[in-house]
Amino acid sequence: MATLQVIDRDGVSHDVECKPGLKVMEVLRELDYGVAAICGGMCSCATCHIYVDDAWKDKLPAPMSDERDLLTELSHYRENSRLSCQSLVGSEDVDVDITQESLQAFLDENPDLRHRLEAEGKWPLKR
Ligand code: FES
Repeated sequence: MATLQVIDRDGVSHDVECKPGLKVMEVLRELDYGVAAICGGMCSCATCHIYVDDAWKDKLPAPMSDERDLLTELSHYRENSRLSCQSLVGSEDVDVDITQESLQAFLDENPDLRHRLEAEGKWPLKR
């Protein structure tokens, strides 16, 4: 079992157990601070965009050309950007940060949660 260290919208790190061979997206979309993954992992929506900690990015298989092409079109692209639907977890732990754009897409898909967070002053993010 590997551990995903996931930074949530409040900047808090969570350790999430993950079976090797799963895509990072398959783990994140089950969390209430996760990703929407609107295209279901078809590498076409980028609503699963994450940043992988520099110390961990070599733990994931390198991106294929279609993932690289989609990522480099994003306005918030960074060198450590990955699509979580294209990122297979191996036996090693990985540290990921869900991008603000992915959080926005997630909350657009979960309006009740977004309204609650807005009422609590927790959305939009202040970080
Ligand atoms: S889920 Fe759509 S690109 Fe990853």
